[in-house]
Formats: sequence, C-alpha cells, structure tokens
Amino acid sequence: MLCMTKKSILFVCLGNICRSPMAEAVFNKIIEREGLSEFFVTDSAGLIAYHQGEQADSRMRYHAGRRGYELTHRSRPFARTDFDRFDLIIGMDEQNIDGLRDKADTLEEMQKIHRMKDFSRNFAPTHIPDPYYGGDQGFENVIDLLEDACEGLLEEIERGAV
Ligand code: 4NP
Repeated sequence: MLCMTKKSILFVCLGNICRSPMAEAVFNKIIEREGLSEFFVTDSAGLIAYHQGEQADSRMRYHAGRRGYELTHRSRPFARTDFDRFDLIIGMDEQNIDGLRDKADTLEEMQKIHRMKDFSRNFAPTHIPDPYYGGDQGFENVIDLLEDACEGLLEEIERGAV
C-alpha cells in the first residue's frame, strides 16, 4: 500500500437501498481481505430521502447473501456536509453524477465526484444499472459489476491515482 493516509469513501446511488449499500459491502470485504480496513472509512447515501431509515432492498440483501455479503446499512440521504466528510464520492450512474454535481459548490467538491464504472477492470459498463424495477439478473449483474469495479477502485487508490 503506497498511500497509507486514511481515505474516506462515500458510495452514492438514487435510493441507497440497492447499489450503493452493495458497493460499500463489496469494498469493505475487499479491504478486510487485504488487511487494510484501518486505512478506510466507508459509507453510502442516496440522492432521494424516500427510503430513509430502511434496510437495503430485500432482493439486494438476498442476492448479496448468496455471495457472502451481509448488508447492514440503513438508507440515508446525501447531505452537503458529505463533501467535507469524504475524500471520494462515487456515483453509480449519470443521473447520480448530475445530482451530486448540482449539490457541489466548489471545484474541490466537484473533483471528489467519480463514476463507479470508471474503476472497472474486466467489464466495460456505461454505468451501474438500477436494478430496482427489474428481476434477479439485474441484482446479480450489479454485484458482478461492483465486485470488478471495487477491485479497480482499491488499485487506483493504492497507486495514488485517486
Ligand atoms: P438504488 O435503487 O438507487 O440502487 O438504491 C433504487 C431504489 C429505489 C428507487 C429507485 C432506485 N425508488 O425509486 O424508490
């Protein structure tokens, strides 16, 4: 690990009940595997407050559980103060990126915003698709894409690229 300073990462999606809590769980498992948990603070948030306080969607929890992830996060809306609290703010799709950019006031805040898909290694997705209105395959696909992109995210952090 080249960069030993503590990094704080916020994963963001629309409802904070499917993709972003899943991304948080996948990244946490990777850093645990690598013995790097002490170097990170992670959290997730949504651009809408509709599901505030709720556990992750039961379908997301089911598919996560089949791969050994436990989703314990409770949905919370993104807050302006998150720009101060986190080094990296990672959106799942273009709508998330637009929503985050609308909330950013400064260039420094703007530069904290990243697209999850840009950390992909073995896949080339245009975004992490919203699985909410789809079926089982959508949830499996989200986990496939996030497992790949979270490995890439750690690599980029380790080489000091973000
Ligand atoms: P997420 O999925 O953004 O991945 O958490 C969604 C959850 C809820 C809604 C949309 C997407 N919703 O419209 O309530």
